[in-house]
Amino acid sequence: MEISQSSQRILASLLEARTGQQITFNRRWRIDSALSSIMRERDFANVDQLVARLVAGRDPALTESVIEALLNNETYFFRDKLPFDLLFGGPVKRLEQARQREKRLSIWCAGCSTGQEVYSLAMSFADEKTRWQGWKIDIVGTDLSRRTIEKARAGIYSQFEVQRGLPVVQMIRHFDEVGGREWKISPVLRDAVRFEARNISDAPPHPGKFDIILCRNVLLYFSPEMKRLAFTRLSQAIAADGSLMLGAGETVIGLTDRFVSDPENRGLYVPAPGVGIGASPAARVA
Ligand SMILES: C[S@@+](CC[C@H](N)C(=O)[O-])C[C@H]1O[C@@H](n2cnc3c(N)ncnc32)[C@H](O)[C@@H]1O
Repeated sequence: MEISQSSQRILASLLEARTGQQITFNRRWRIDSALSSIMRERDFANVDQLVARLVAGRDPALTESVIEALLNNETYFFRDKLPFDLLFGGPVKRLEQARQREKRLSIWCAGCSTGQEVYSLAMSFADEKTRWQGWKIDIVGTDLSRRTIEKARAGIYSQFEVQRGLPVVQMIRHFDEVGGREWKISPVLRDAVRFEARNISDAPPHPGKFDIILCRNVLLYFSPEMKRLAFTRLSQAIAADGSLMLGAGETVIGLTDRFVSDPENRGLYVPAPGVGIGASPAARVA
């Protein structure tokens, strides 16, 4: 269905103001299908009518649902697989040595959507029980979208969702079948992780100091200013010897000098010298 240029502009600026995400020209065709269920539920004949209601204000619930619907929440277990091998072969191994005394690792998945990335990490640690005996592994997932965070907390996935990316052995080991159609993450893994609704441009979650941060496939549609702000926030929450992982199509290059490419692990980033928690305070704010 045709959507007027002005409605497209209004929706694009609403989304960008609230989330930092831009709707590029080639993603505009998605607007109609993304909003179709809201239009059905609320009985709007077309997107222009819906936008007119948004502009009139006084309907914060509608605004919230529209933003949620326009976000891209695509995710799956062990997404792209290789990054998980890279993470566990590189930084996790290195930090295992570096944190031998405290036996503690903190990991933040910023923009975790419905939780598959967080549970993939938790499964990877759980599958090496003996190695991580006596360690406290704190994994927190955050996302701006309350709807995805609720689903992540519930830890219930459809047959299709568990089949995407998740090897059968892990599916059987870490999930219980519910009602013959869905799969629920085991209570042990559920209790091993936490989820919070949080905008990446706001303060980081507790404890505010992370050894590893994953921020994959989140920054892709941010404006350059929003990317810079996100990198500043991430740099304020990472340990000086921590590691940052972005999505395959994302980079820090040309956007921030707070992170540099990890010379030992291609595709990962580390805080620039003097940046990161644990670096000298003067260097940190520079
Ligand atoms: C495409 S998903 C990526 C999920 C997961 N990281 C992965 O790679 O599979 C991007 C997620 O980023 C979230 N997001 C977008 N803008 C955000 C912001 N400003 N703060 C926090 N999360 C945001 C979206 O709600 C969405 O769930």
